[in-house]
Amino acid sequence: MPEDRLNALAEKAKDLIRKAQDSERLEAVRVEFLGRKGEISQVSKQMGKLAGEERARIGKMLNTVKRGLEEALEARKREFESGLLEARLESEWLDLTLPAPGTRPGSLHPLTKIQAEIEDLFVSMGFSVQSGPEVETEYHNFDALNMPADHPARDMQDTFWLEGGNVLRTHTSPVQVRGMKRLGAPLRMIAPGRVFRNEEVDASHEHTFYQLEGMMIDRNVSIGNLVYFMKTLLSSIFHRDVTVRLRPGYFPFVEPGFELDIHCLICDGEGCPVCKQSGWVELLPCGLVHPNVLRMGGIDPEEWNGFAFGLGLTRLVMMRYGIDDIRLLQSGDLRFLTQF
Ligand code: DAH
Repeated sequence: MPEDRLNALAEKAKDLIRKAQDSERLEAVRVEFLGRKGEISQVSKQMGKLAGEERARIGKMLNTVKRGLEEALEARKREFESGLLEARLESEWLDLTLPAPGTRPGSLHPLTKIQAEIEDLFVSMGFSVQSGPEVETEYHNFDALNMPADHPARDMQDTFWLEGGNVLRTHTSPVQVRGMKRLGAPLRMIAPGRVFRNEEVDASHEHTFYQLEGMMIDRNVSIGNLVYFMKTLLSSIFHRDVTVRLRPGYFPFVEPGFELDIHCLICDGEGCPVCKQSGWVELLPCGLVHPNVLRMGGIDPEEWNGFAFGLGLTRLVMMRYGIDDIRLLQSGDLRFLTQF
């Protein structure tokens, strides 16, 4: 069918015109199709063989196709002449050999990092990692830690009370009790986690922060053992030897209770603004587990004793990285987070 042949030729020509990148190539396409020996002329030449009606139809079509191609050639030529094509080629140029822009890999939150480091260290010393609920019973958060309902020490922690007598745990110490009941003695455990206090938020106070509880129960555990584990912990965190001292401190769940200080890492104990000229920085509270607490955990205080400590993870992260505003840690601000 001459119609089909014409249509196919027209399509092919238009495609070549679109692809032509310079006027020489364009001229070659013109000659190939519209030239005297070109494909379309070949069709014209066969017109003579056709009968009247068909001849008229094909003739008309032939003219349309020719005009269409001439217009397409003309338009393409104008594109070359005006430099439009070059501009377009230039602007749409794409180097397919370039590596893809890619997405930025995420990074671990500094708290997650420190927590993982400390977990690794304690696991290597035979401790297990325990957890407890953030919505805690009043019993586990207070009573079982030797703080009955009327105990003034309950006021040391501003508590979020929930309906039904539960609380948002104010510390990770309730996991001590859960751990003792779960695992019995002897026991070596740590319990990192989120805690909550009803605090006015400012640069150094948050209503939500992280602690890491530790507990070791065995026969004849001494303050010497406690100091040894704390020194091991702190030199591993700060990547150097640390000097520590114990001061008496009061917490109902330990007796004796201590505040453990370290020699200021900035001035090495000489005295500087960071340690307020004292040479010491208060780092973590600890002590020997109170017999009442052992009993609440189902452990016989006549046979076993132990130490416990509560590390302020959030505070530790701030010290290690020199972060001066606690609110940054939970801000989700990528400008902050990508620095770690
Ligand atoms: N739970 C206490 C608090 O958050 C910290 C603490 C003190 C934990 C002494 C302990 C400890 O395990 O022995 O204020």
